[in-house]
Amino acid sequence: MKIGNVKIDGFSALAPLAGVTDIPFRMMCKEAGAPIVFSEMVSSEGLIRGSEKTNRYLEYLEEERPVVLQIFGGKPEVMAEGARIMEERGPDIIDINFGCPVKKVVKNNAGSALLKDPMLMGRIVEAMVKAVKVPVTAKIRSGWDDKAPPVTETGKILEQAGISAITIHPRTRKQQFKGNANWTEIEKLKKAVTVPVIGNGDIKTPADAKQMFEETGCDMVMVGRAAMGRPWIFGEIEKFLSKGMILPAMTPVEIVKICLKQYKRSVDIYGKRYALNTMKKHIAWYLKSLPGNSNVKNSVFTAKDTEETREILGEYIEYLKDHDTDLEDNKLAG
Ligand SMILES: Cc1cc2nc3c(=O)[nH]c(=O)nc-3n(C[C@H](O)[C@H](O)[C@H](O)COP(=O)(O)O)c2cc1C
Repeated sequence: MKIGNVKIDGFSALAPLAGVTDIPFRMMCKEAGAPIVFSEMVSSEGLIRGSEKTNRYLEYLEEERPVVLQIFGGKPEVMAEGARIMEERGPDIIDINFGCPVKKVVKNNAGSALLKDPMLMGRIVEAMVKAVKVPVTAKIRSGWDDKAPPVTETGKILEQAGISAITIHPRTRKQQFKGNANWTEIEKLKKAVTVPVIGNGDIKTPADAKQMFEETGCDMVMVGRAAMGRPWIFGEIEKFLSKGMILPAMTPVEIVKICLKQYKRSVDIYGKRYALNTMKKHIAWYLKSLPGNSNVKNSVFTAKDTEETREILGEYIEYLKDHDTDLEDNKLAG
């Protein structure tokens, strides 16, 4: 698939997840086989202010290419200037967040609030496309609520304004994350536009990914929550869709080793304090379905430094080896 002049080799993308998709996690997904990884949204206003926190979110490694940076905001001229500043950081693609449901964002008429006004979305895209050379893409929800303009109308406006691809998470803002993603909306959008459409929402397995392709005709699928603590899902999806192969399940020991690898990357890239705090949630996700995990998770949460955390995980690996358990046994037992 191509987005503008950027070639993407494969079927699946890591979704932008604020507070989750930092460099170490993106690299885990990339290494596992994700053809493209998105980084989390940054504010156009923050970009213009040169906020230190915002700048940190723009960092990436060359190995991540093609790099997608995501921007949010509600004012065409500010978004255009923000995109120009963002482009100086060298991304391959700039993605616009038209889907964030968070109050802090929608009260400034950004994120999913813009779904009420597709003409304004079009003006934002137009201004950004004029301001930068890299392809500009958009990530939308299916609307603000059931009464919002249909995705077909929004998609056509975005296309006319020069968008290079559209990702759709087919829930309304009102739904937040409740209920099921309505994949029919992906199909409707795909039929309405000629630019590539990336389908997103509720993919948990390679079979789900296949089903989304078949039901909607989308050009690529995007996975968010199911990748948390499970970056190897991208390898599973890629192998299944390209060769029909089902990869063997990771053993508990392998899972903890992968977790430790992300931990090391986090320390190396961002330092011990960041790793200690940020990795707690990742560890909880990695360990979610492993045997004997509750004491380990508690110890990790109260660990005072990164050395202690690594020691706890190292001892857990020894415990898992001694108990020779695997995930299937654990499921049967539980
Ligand atoms: C913790 C979290 C953070 C998110 N942050 C972003 C973000 O920064 N930008 C964005 O476009 N979507 C964001 N999303 C939405 C996801 O990219 C994705 O559209 C949504 O989770 C549905 O996909 P899934 O069912 O595969 O998780 C976030 C979702 C979650 C759960």
